[in-house]
Amino acid sequence: MSTGHIFLVGFMGAGKSTVAGLVAARLGRPYVDLDEVIAERAGRPVTAIFAEDGEETFRALESQALLGVEHLAPSVIACGGGIVIRPENRAALKRLGTVVYLEVTAGEALARIGDVGTRPLLAGAGGSLAATRLLSARESLYRSVADLTVDTVGLECQQVADTIVSLLGAM
Ligand code: S3P
Repeated sequence: MSTGHIFLVGFMGAGKSTVAGLVAARLGRPYVDLDEVIAERAGRPVTAIFAEDGEETFRALESQALLGVEHLAPSVIACGGGIVIRPENRAALKRLGTVVYLEVTAGEALARIGDVGTRPLLAGAGGSLAATRLLSARESLYRSVADLTVDTVGLECQQVADTIVSLLGAM
């Protein structure tokens, strides 16, 4: 098993935060949600950062938050769906630990998210077409950083977490 962090990446609605919490509990490691770190540091929710300052400001805060985990004890870290956009983030993920890609389809992601108002990149953009386009644009980026890939469609979060723990144990 990796001595670095375990990062969960994948599209919005893949279950990264819930699954990361479950994996962290199983492994006795701290759980970190990068979006929560960003919101805490900014003193406002991610939706407000997008609305008030725009995506580029959010991406800069996201990159900073990612680099900030370097000094933490080995943790299980849920990343926002767009963490893979910047090449420097992809390099940092590879350098700092093991990356697990949670796969989901656009349709399943939207069904799980429910209220897209919580996801600025989907909210104003016409739901299903936006999700399909964004996911297909990002898929190869998720794959390029992944050490492990788990298809989450049809699985409960607990089953996904169990799969990850056993795959990590076999590494
Ligand atoms: C984003 C995903 C969100 C959040 C922000 C941008 C994205 O996180 O970081 O709204 O670009 O895919 P989740 O993947 O946890 O929803």
